[in-house]
Amino acid sequence: MVCTVRRAVPADTADCVAIVRGLPEYFTEDVPDKIAAELREHPAWVAEEGTGLAGFAIVDRRSAHAAEIRWLAVAGPRRGNGVGTRLLDHLVRELAADGLLVLEVKTLDARAGYQPYVATRAFWERNGFVQVDTIDPFPDWPPGNPAAIYIAALGTTR
Ligand SMILES: CC(C)(COP(=O)(O)OP(=O)(O)OC[C@H]1O[C@@H](n2cnc3c(N)ncnc32)[C@H](O)[C@@H]1OP(=O)(O)O)[C@@H](O)C(=O)NCCC(=O)NCCS
Repeated sequence: MVCTVRRAVPADTADCVAIVRGLPEYFTEDVPDKIAAELREHPAWVAEEGTGLAGFAIVDRRSAHAAEIRWLAVAGPRRGNGVGTRLLDHLVRELAADGLLVLEVKTLDARAGYQPYVATRAFWERNGFVQVDTIDPFPDWPPGNPAAIYIAALGTTR
């Protein structure tokens, strides 16, 4: 299926929220509201397939050279087909052209022993992200959810 990545527009919000609601093993019930709010605040990209969305990503630009991927999700039935990689490659290209040097993502650490996130960490590692820390407990995350801090370098910093 042809997959096109483009910047998100306000009309994409309902589809992004639906993707998150379709992944209950990954996202708690408070996440759809957070996604809707962050889509208004931060740069975001969507992967479009046919007439629908297959995935989205939201990025918080922290400074000229650093940013965090706040959310990245691919619709359940479309997972494992390269959509996440396409989204990531696209946003990295755009951000690198705009001076970004380091990109962070936080996810659930292996020590949580929660099977669904094994694939998520494999995705980040396959895409060049290096785990630099574990923070447990992580502020604002529920107890029992250690955070794995991953960084990817898009350029040299010294
Ligand atoms: C994580 C996620 C964004 C990845 O997107 P995707 O389109 O499914 O991933 P891709 O098809 O681009 O996979 C790229 C690589 O990730 C790894 N990967 C993906 N799915 C995997 C799985 N089920 N098991 C192991 N590795 C996996 C593989 O290394 C794969 O490379 P390969 O195809 O050459 O083997 C998506 O699966 C998703 O939405 N997961 C649930 C929500 C989530 O975890 N979001 C991130 C929160 S931090």
